Amino acid sequence: MNMPNMKEARVRTKDKHKIIKDDYIVLNKNIGVGKKYNVITYGCQMNVHDSENIKAILEDMGYSYVDSIDEADLIVVNTCAIRENAHNKVSGMLGRIKHLKQTKKDLITIFCGCMAQEEGYVKNLVAKYRWIDIIVGTHNFHKIPIYLDNLYKTKLNQVEVYSIEGDVYENIPVKRDSKYKAWVNIMYGCDKFCSYCIVPYTRGKQRSRDYHDILKEVNDLVNQGYLEVTLLGQNVNAYGKDLDIDYDMANLLEDVAKTNIKRVRFITSHPWDFTDKMIDVIAKYDNIMPYIHLPLQSGSNKVLKDMNRRYTKEEYTTLFYKIKSKVKNVAISTDIIVGFPTESEEDFLETLNLVKELKYDLAYTFIFSKREATRAYDMKDDTSLIEKKKRLARLNEVVNENAYLNNLAYLDKVIDVLIEDVSDKDGYLMGYSDTMKLVNVKADLSYLGKIVKVRITSIKTWSLDGEVVEC
Ligand code: SAH
Ligand code: SF4
Ligand code: F3S
Repeated sequence: MNMPNMKEARVRTKDKHKIIKDDYIVLNKNIGVGKKYNVITYGCQMNVHDSENIKAILEDMGYSYVDSIDEADLIVVNTCAIRENAHNKVSGMLGRIKHLKQTKKDLITIFCGCMAQEEGYVKNLVAKYRWIDIIVGTHNFHKIPIYLDNLYKTKLNQVEVYSIEGDVYENIPVKRDSKYKAWVNIMYGCDKFCSYCIVPYTRGKQRSRDYHDILKEVNDLVNQGYLEVTLLGQNVNAYGKDLDIDYDMANLLEDVAKTNIKRVRFITSHPWDFTDKMIDVIAKYDNIMPYIHLPLQSGSNKVLKDMNRRYTKEEYTTLFYKIKSKVKNVAISTDIIVGFPTESEEDFLETLNLVKELKYDLAYTFIFSKREATRAYDMKDDTSLIEKKKRLARLNEVVNENAYLNNLAYLDKVIDVLIEDVSDKDGYLMGYSDTMKLVNVKADLSYLGKIVKVRITSIKTWSLDGEVVEC
């Protein structure tokens, strides 16, 4: 048994990570034959992509996918630790699974993802949720076949969580959710240690993949017919800084753009590492989508400093306008936290005013949530939750107004949309524009998986409606 340890997870040494290509082994390919699995995923795109790996790993052992947890013989819960409400959702799901287990004694539960890296939470799980068969962390989920094998042989629960800085594991299989767009990890972990954030503890140190491996993956995806790739990392602009090579995010973006992939996206950009060279590459290539997620977090310099964000409101604003002026028709979205422990009403007003000024296309807004082991955990906080909720509502009002006004500019325009699925709206398909607008398109199924020209016929705050004008 290996339990998580938050103190160890905080450690950063000068040691370089290793790129390991032969650590994924399945000794028993028949363990899952005749059995069904389901994976429940919470959290960010990285977790969504990890789940795509986990699905392929289980299928490698003979398991077959089933849509509902009620029919599954094995359930994976891939968790997120970013805020308390992420925890609450997982706790609710565990309640449901416990109930299922009462009538299905052989049901196997695997608990993984960022919550599996949290010391306090896992201690509680091990003590009180003894029916969870396997707890595995973010650094070693590719070893699920070994833990399942051990579980069957010994009938003992497996708890294997490592709080190490981490390495890069290649050659882990993947079963992608989409046939048209793919997630491609370019780096793992984070060394920024924003004072509110648990990610540097749950995902380890920043470690970039070798760019040859990334480019090979993109080229393979092109050959398989994929139209879009999203390059993933907590902090993609810092790509390559941890490798001893003269090759950075601008080089990588350019090389990915030069493949035959139709659309390139990337998330998430930290304002700190966003170089002019990157902006120039984004502006130069038509297949790099004009959409940038640029988390602001706060519009107050005092709060930004307390958050350890490493930029001022003025530096952020300069970068924002530089991107707007150089990248044609760019859409910019952001993340904002309200109610950080040191945020006063005046600080909040600075955020509100900046959001009014920058008129984001979209903003994801959150109330600060205290996370285990982070620096902000112990900060004095005398703002009530009611007051924080009020600030969130005031902010959201401006965010929604901006989103609507930005969408209004699309009315009657013809834009490119990659049609990826059927829409919830009857008779419509759905997809995203270059600028990441969700578009419901009146069209038949023959348009699935195509990039089509769509005329926008009506708009809402969070989506656009349109009709196909040509293919
Ligand atoms: N790596 C990304 C962020 C990943 S987490 C970046 O640096 O931009 C996604 C968002 O969750 C963050 O941008 C932040 O706005 C929010 N978040 C992170 N920790 C939080 C916390 N403790 N409470 C509330 N929101 C938080
Ligand atoms: Fe968290 Fe900051 Fe790292 Fe983003 S950059 S993952 S907010 S520590
Ligand atoms: Fe959540 Fe972990 Fe992603 S905490 S946001 S799943 S990196």
